[in-house]
Amino acid sequence: MVRIVELLILGGTVFLGRHVVDAALAAGHRVTILHRGHSPAHRPGDVEELLADRDGGLDVLAGRSWDAVVDTSGYVPRVVGDSARRLAGAVDHYVFVSSVSVYADLTGGVDEDRPLHEPPDHEDVAAAYGGLKVGCERAVEAALPGRALHVRAGLIVGPHDGTNRFTYWVTRVAAGGEVLVPDALDRPVQVVDVRDLAGWMVDAAEDRLTGTLNVMGPRGAVTFGGLLAAARAAGGSDARFTAVDEDWLLAQGVAPWEELPLWLPASMPGYGGMLDGDDRCARDMGVRFRPIAQTVADTLEWARTAPPARGLTTGARVGAAGITREREAELLAAWRART
Ligand SMILES: NC(=O)c1ccc[n+]([C@@H]2O[C@H](COP(=O)([O-])OP(=O)(O)OC[C@H]3O[C@@H](n4cnc5c(N)ncnc54)[C@H](OP(=O)(O)O)[C@@H]3O)[C@@H](O)[C@H]2O)c1
Repeated sequence: MVRIVELLILGGTVFLGRHVVDAALAAGHRVTILHRGHSPAHRPGDVEELLADRDGGLDVLAGRSWDAVVDTSGYVPRVVGDSARRLAGAVDHYVFVSSVSVYADLTGGVDEDRPLHEPPDHEDVAAAYGGLKVGCERAVEAALPGRALHVRAGLIVGPHDGTNRFTYWVTRVAAGGEVLVPDALDRPVQVVDVRDLAGWMVDAAEDRLTGTLNVMGPRGAVTFGGLLAAARAAGGSDARFTAVDEDWLLAQGVAPWEELPLWLPASMPGYGGMLDGDDRCARDMGVRFRPIAQTVADTLEWARTAPPARGLTTGARVGAAGITREREAELLAAWRART
């Protein structure tokens, strides 16, 4: 087994990247992070920090070499291709963090053989995130043929997740009382704990694993109802769940996934694979998933001590995802009053 000594992270300060930093340092590796400085370095005393914009600013890499790079901040093929070409002679191995959004068919049970989106001829990440990730994977593979690992992540959750998707349910249920939930309690919820993903990617870089795989969490391990029960247990709360008809919620204009996070209505089966993917390849490649109860408990502990979520808004929305208690109360009242 080849042991990494030097690891470069393109990113490394916000969520997945900061857990890669933690995992690499825990394994005894030397870590360099490259980022713009818009967010503060994680563990600045323990890592070397290169401040640069990877879009056009990679001269900072000149004359340097590392054993492996983990790229957590690649969204645009032109930019990722630039970093991959510059690093092809400077690293042995490239780990690219991709997404299951690469798949054009995201119905349930998504595996690595599903058809992919075509990369678009523009760079609008909001409009074509999945197609652009496909282009990024191809750009990395072209620059380092047979030396890259493409990690198609599912929903990444856990401490320091700024999206408030998973965290919304953990904190809302822990707060107790009557909780509005979509009537989808038996539907699968598949998430990957950020620490499982980060730790495995560091191991994979050590071992120079190559290829392409989904890392989405354990398949069939938990339902939406099971997640809510785990959150109630972790919070020791008195939460009571009012399961509301999905079509009624849609008719009220409630936005799936964003306002009620992790909610993918039955009427939108084309997205079911976001929370229901094949995990056999990941398990074969050595990924290990911790129990959901641990992820829930640690996320709750972090959320109770963390600074307010980035992007906090006023009005009906709170944080980056979820609804306010006021909006929830209005919807519950309207649900009760509907007949
Ligand atoms: N969250 C999910 O559920 C999910 C699901 C599937 C895939 N993914 C993938 O997982 C990755 C997310 O990782 P993360 O955001 O948690 O990683 P992170 O490494 O913790 O944070 C992103 C880093 O990129 C840096 N960065 C952003 N733009 C940059 C630029 N132009 N030049 C240099 N550095 C730049 C940021 O620092 P500065 O701002 O200081 O530059 C920050 O350090 C992405 O590739 C995403 O597509 C996420």
